[in-house]
Amino acid sequence: MELDGKSFQLFLPLLLLITIVTASSSASDNRQSYIIHMDKSAMPASFSTPHSWYTSALSSLSSSMDGIPPIHLYTYNHVMNGFSAVLSPSHLGQLEKMPGHVATFAETFGHLHTTHTGDFLGLNKNVGLWPAAGFGDDMIIGIIDTGVWPESESFNDKGMPPVPARWRGACEIGAEFNSSHCNKKLIGARSFSKAMKRSGLNILEIYDYDSPRDFWGHGTHTSSTAAGSLVPARLAIYKVYFYNDSISSAFASDTLAGMDQAIGNGVDLMSLSLGFSETPFYENPIALGAFAAMEKGIFVACSSGNSGKTAMFNGAPWITTVGAGTVDRDFAGRITLGNGDLSVTGRSVYPENQLVSRVPLYFGHGNRSKEICEYGSLDPEYVVGKYIFCDFDIVTSYDLQLDEFRRSHASGAIISSTSGISVSSDEFNLPFVIVKPEDGDLVKAYIISSKNPIVSVKFQTTVLGTKPAPQVPFFSSRGPGSVAPWVLKPDILAPGYEILAGWAPNKGAAFIRDDELLTDYVLESGTSMSSPHLVGAAALLKATHHEWSSAAIRSAIMTTADVFDNTKSIFTDMATGQSGTPLDFGAGHVNPNKAMNPGLVYDMEVQDYINFLCGMNYSMQQITIIARRSDFNCENASLDLNYPSFIAILNDKSTTSYTFKRVLTNVVNSSSVYAAEVVMPTGMKIVVQPMTISFTEKYSRDGFNLTVEIDLGQRPRSYYNGKYGYLIWNEINGTHVVRSPIMCAFSPQQW
Ligand SMILES: *[C@@H]1O[C@H](CO)[C@@H](O)[C@H](O)[C@H]1NC(C)=O
Ligand SMILES: *[C@@H]1O[C@H](CO)[C@@H](O)[C@H](O)[C@H]1NC(C)=O
Ligand SMILES: *[C@@H]1O[C@H](CO)[C@@H](O)[C@H](O)[C@H]1NC(C)=O
Ligand SMILES: *[C@@H]1O[C@H](CO)[C@@H](O)[C@H](O)[C@H]1NC(C)=O
Ligand SMILES: *[C@@H]1O[C@H](CO)[C@@H](O)[C@H](O)[C@H]1NC(C)=O
Ligand SMILES: *[C@@H]1O[C@H](CO)[C@@H](O)[C@H](O)[C@H]1NC(C)=O
Ligand SMILES: *[C@@H]1O[C@H](CO)[C@@H](O)[C@H](O)[C@H]1NC(C)=O
Ligand SMILES: *[C@@H]1O[C@H](CO)[C@@H](O)[C@H](O)[C@H]1NC(C)=O
Repeated sequence: MELDGKSFQLFLPLLLLITIVTASSSASDNRQSYIIHMDKSAMPASFSTPHSWYTSALSSLSSSMDGIPPIHLYTYNHVMNGFSAVLSPSHLGQLEKMPGHVATFAETFGHLHTTHTGDFLGLNKNVGLWPAAGFGDDMIIGIIDTGVWPESESFNDKGMPPVPARWRGACEIGAEFNSSHCNKKLIGARSFSKAMKRSGLNILEIYDYDSPRDFWGHGTHTSSTAAGSLVPARLAIYKVYFYNDSISSAFASDTLAGMDQAIGNGVDLMSLSLGFSETPFYENPIALGAFAAMEKGIFVACSSGNSGKTAMFNGAPWITTVGAGTVDRDFAGRITLGNGDLSVTGRSVYPENQLVSRVPLYFGHGNRSKEICEYGSLDPEYVVGKYIFCDFDIVTSYDLQLDEFRRSHASGAIISSTSGISVSSDEFNLPFVIVKPEDGDLVKAYIISSKNPIVSVKFQTTVLGTKPAPQVPFFSSRGPGSVAPWVLKPDILAPGYEILAGWAPNKGAAFIRDDELLTDYVLESGTSMSSPHLVGAAALLKATHHEWSSAAIRSAIMTTADVFDNTKSIFTDMATGQSGTPLDFGAGHVNPNKAMNPGLVYDMEVQDYINFLCGMNYSMQQITIIARRSDFNCENASLDLNYPSFIAILNDKSTTSYTFKRVLTNVVNSSSVYAAEVVMPTGMKIVVQPMTISFTEKYSRDGFNLTVEIDLGQRPRSYYNGKYGYLIWNEINGTHVVRSPIMCAFSPQQW
């Protein structure tokens, strides 16, 4: 990625690597798995269930060429009408001619987007949202991910009341997993790998478990973040992401099956920290599953992706799309030079709690050049057993230096660098500390002036209250979304940077020298980490306001979000070092306590989303695939959803005026009046009509129009790209403040 002429290496954990696979069952035949949508109303009366219809249809296909019959994978009951199956081209041709066939899509593959954060979110055990929600103890969160390590202390159910009677889930028996691994916190665990196995990928026990057990840690991390033992929401785990030696991915038909099961089991919320390419919504399994969930009142949060400005994932308007923010915490190593004359603190996530005492410190011999730590630069004869000091202007990654330290048998290192690079546990397999150049100069001066420089280092020091925070890290995916740019995405930021949470202790989180560090908790960065934070906050909200729709919950979260960091400035975009915009941070950073009492919400119903799909010019058949019914019409087609944010897309060269229509619902148990306040950037005119709205009682509604006008007489259209303002409804004689960002942007032209 090139930004401001400097190239930055994204430091993402191993698990976030993207793997694209093309699967077919073997080289000799070209069968593959497909997702087949059917029209339930065309089912002949002789069948008692859609499942029996689908399996009968499959068994009626003739397998003339190779004699291999089609293989049924899953029947879907909630996320779509239809099933998945492994078919040859000839099977597919026959199936497409059958009555009731709506559409078929080939298998696609998703990838993962990979504790102090409770305090940072303002959650306090004695006041605010946490106690009001009864700590969320009747809420069930479904996590669609890589499974779970059930023995983690994060899933301890001590003191929890019995599992809600409405729960219909189960605990699957499989490799190192059985019903005794579930408890009153971890109430369900299933795995979905039929499509993967049928495509010829085996699950070998050295790479994964053929069960809900988490081999790689990602799912344990996300689920312990969403509802770790501090918040007694219940967890149900749906493992859809598997590894073999060379491949890691989620199959679309397995993912659909996981979401289908979660809906059928009765989860209240779902979080997905993975994404499929942004194809149209009717082809995207997460968009399909989330639509069905939304209809049933299930709140769905998804990660926005780790692709920075190159791609945004999970941008459907019925999904709450979560970007990553940093937290006000740093991991430090404290360096003491000589006899304690001088101390400096730098960044380090070296995971061993060790004190290195009075070790020789090395900074070249003879010509102390800046390049001293590049590969091949260190002579083991001089550096064995010593700490190395390295002096850089800027580095984009420490890989070469780490290799060099290892090669030369140095004991550890102090690196002076201007770049504040993200670190994850699996990178820091040698003890080293990064110091700021000012501190680096102090260290250098000490070394040059000492005959026998020595250093002591205390690792595993945590620094809280760092500023500024939150910031938007490099990797967090930026809007607008490519499929539906008419809604501002991402919606919100939640912590997703160097997050400490549960892990699968079977697998090393890092190497210390040649020893793998096995740990119950690790640090990970990614929007994978932010979606479960957001869903945890949403669970507390839903527990407090059972009657709220998913749109109302999202609205409450968005309109009360923090829009300034802890230095009272606009959030910094770490990719540029400049202030970000709502394309980076959406409505802002989630503030759960404020979200509990938003005053007003922008609510939406299923019909609103259908009107939106109509506005996108999706065909009746395409909308039927998503809505799973055909008794709708498009007479109110509109791209203007009743969304808690506004985005004016600048691409249409003839438009200079953009009008949005919105309706607010009072969620307070009294009458209220609000006045509009508009914050607008230079050259943009924003008009709100009327400027005052009023509500007589709880759930009463009032509407307004908002018009954004850009002045092309003075400035080119491109001037407005990235400009934004806010609409703020301030309660008169009251305290509620309802804020929405208003953004102008060009959209990616992929639609
Ligand atoms: C489940 O597995 C554990 C070992 O992991 C075993 O001790 C226990 O007996 C098993 N329980 C059942 C019900 O099979
Ligand atoms: C993993 O998947 C790759 C790609 O299809 C395949 O070649 C390999 O045999 C698989 N490994 C196992 C152990 O199944
Ligand atoms: C030290 O090394 C640098 C970089 O290789 C070189 O530019 C510089 O001239 C050298 N200085 C001396 C005193 O040798
Ligand atoms: C939908 O079709 C109408 C009529 O052709 C067109 O004006 C509009 O721009 C289209 N909308 C989208 C989102 O493509
Ligand atoms: C379209 O909007 C009108 C006016 O609000 C309403 O009467 C009508 O029922 C709507 N049609 C549909 C299909 O929702
Ligand atoms: C809400 O208002 C109704 C009618 O005024 C009243 O009966 C009820 O107690 C109020 N509820 C709360 C929570 O204040
Ligand atoms: C918003 O604009 C529409 C169309 O221009 C108009 O019919 C409606 O009365 C306006 N609503 C308000 C609240 O101003
Ligand atoms: C706000 O309070 C002032 C002073 O009590 C009162 O005059 C005014 O009518 C109130 N406004 C509203 C909208 O309630």
